Amino acid sequence: MRPWWHAAAIYQVYPRSFRDGNGDGLGDVKGVEEKLPYLKDLGVDAIWLSPFYPSPQHDSGYDVADPRDVDPMYGTLADAQSMIDAAHALGIKVIVDVVPNHASVEHRWFQEALLSAAGSKERARFHFRDGRGEGGFEPPTNWMSMFGGPAWTRITEPDGTPGQWYLHIFDSSQPDYNWSNPEVREDWLTTLAFWLDRGVDGFRVDVALGLAKDMEYPDIENPEGLVQALRLDLDNDSPEVTALRAKVRNSAIFDRDELREIYGEWRTLMNRYPGDRMAVAEAWVAPDRAAMYVGGDTLHQIFNFEFLSIPFDATQICAVVQRTLDELAIVKAPATWALSNHDTPRVVSRLMSPELDEERARTAARSLALIAHALPGSIYVYQGEELGLPDAPIPASARQDPVYFRTNGEQLGRDAARVPLPWSGVAAPYGFSDDDTAVTWLPQPADWEGLTAAAESADPNSTLGQYRSMLRLRHELPSLVDLDNAAVSELMPGVVRVTRGPEFSCIVNCTSQQVRIQSNAAVLVASDESVMADGESLTLPPATGAWLSETY
Ligand code: BGC
Repeated sequence: MRPWWHAAAIYQVYPRSFRDGNGDGLGDVKGVEEKLPYLKDLGVDAIWLSPFYPSPQHDSGYDVADPRDVDPMYGTLADAQSMIDAAHALGIKVIVDVVPNHASVEHRWFQEALLSAAGSKERARFHFRDGRGEGGFEPPTNWMSMFGGPAWTRITEPDGTPGQWYLHIFDSSQPDYNWSNPEVREDWLTTLAFWLDRGVDGFRVDVALGLAKDMEYPDIENPEGLVQALRLDLDNDSPEVTALRAKVRNSAIFDRDELREIYGEWRTLMNRYPGDRMAVAEAWVAPDRAAMYVGGDTLHQIFNFEFLSIPFDATQICAVVQRTLDELAIVKAPATWALSNHDTPRVVSRLMSPELDEERARTAARSLALIAHALPGSIYVYQGEELGLPDAPIPASARQDPVYFRTNGEQLGRDAARVPLPWSGVAAPYGFSDDDTAVTWLPQPADWEGLTAAAESADPNSTLGQYRSMLRLRHELPSLVDLDNAAVSELMPGVVRVTRGPEFSCIVNCTSQQVRIQSNAAVLVASDESVMADGESLTLPPATGAWLSETY
């Protein structure tokens, strides 16, 4: 039997915003456990939880003070164990997010490093360097933070004098670990074993391309460009973007050859555990570099960022899907597909344009979901995507993302896609907290009444209804269970067709015109009620699509 993760539906839980089990306006581990039956009913095979570890929350938990515990604001380790066990009892696997590129400034090791001398073993767990220029006032290199500004921050030494600088590829509250130090590698193996011992089925590896750094600390040619290259909102087809992305390959900060050995050690550890434990790499790298992250002796899956940022354009969709299938066939890793995550705009909002207002963009997003879920491999669903949520308007005073603050508001950051989920009711907090007076950590819009899980559950044509149908059919239809039968093509200009053998197809109209196709196939799932099949032809209004069966 093939491992479960070859074709799983994996639901991303962003715990802060999933469900508040104790009425304080913040999601928590108890809230996740409470809603497992909803996820079972949705049809997911696994959940991936964004970090719930102790953290000062400067980057919503991706600044981890102790990777082997649970933040009191999310619950206790016992709560986490109870949630893992409850998920397993329902047949749902659990993937936890690990953040091995960096710690939090509140991590014990970093606090010890601040109190220790330059050159000490405590400082050697991070990247501490003397500054350049007279008095060391210039940062050690010209590297930039992914969140804006320099990637180095100067400390004050215990004796009060201006001191060394430490590296942080993200916020200054997130010091990068020094992975050339065996103590760091050993400690991370302990962390992985800690969670494997508690029964987790896998890891999502945050910034998997960043752990190793060039220990000569060279200046780089275009530091801004290297940061830009990993942004998701660029035009993937433009030559400038291709040139930028080429600079990521084996650079001073990202995608270095040393990673192979690190992930090789992780794999050896995971192989010692029973069951099919897995790890998925968050790494946007050139296709020929993917082999370093996945394949036989390192990690198991790699996120497909090219697909995640795809426009609603048939030619580009076909090209990216084909490329993904071809490239992963070479390294023998199953593909992954996602339309959004906690770092990107929600797919409905991403597809909005002068031609596509919110409602039509939602239909387009549902059509794109038909394509993604029709493909072989694992599908990742970001919480709220199954409800068709758009990004929420966030007033400046409520913003939380360090990206917003480090770029002086030039980039709005990711808060709009992280708003607490609407579960039921007609007004905030929409059942996110049982306490109706609870103030959610980000404000929910006043017009989400029709987008709650309860409202959509009552309507089989809702986005939730569509997701439930797709996830059920992925398990039930032999054509979708077989993973070696996929083909993608442009059926006619602007119309995508994915087939899975002779009996199943998915057709999506990406144009602004209605199309009619000769077909006697039956509609299994449609992205809009206006899709019509009369036994002879299929009518697809603009931006709609359908799953079709030749055998029903
Ligand atoms: C996570 C982000 C986080 C960053 C730093 C990422 O790629 O997905 O949410 O801000 O790593 O940890």
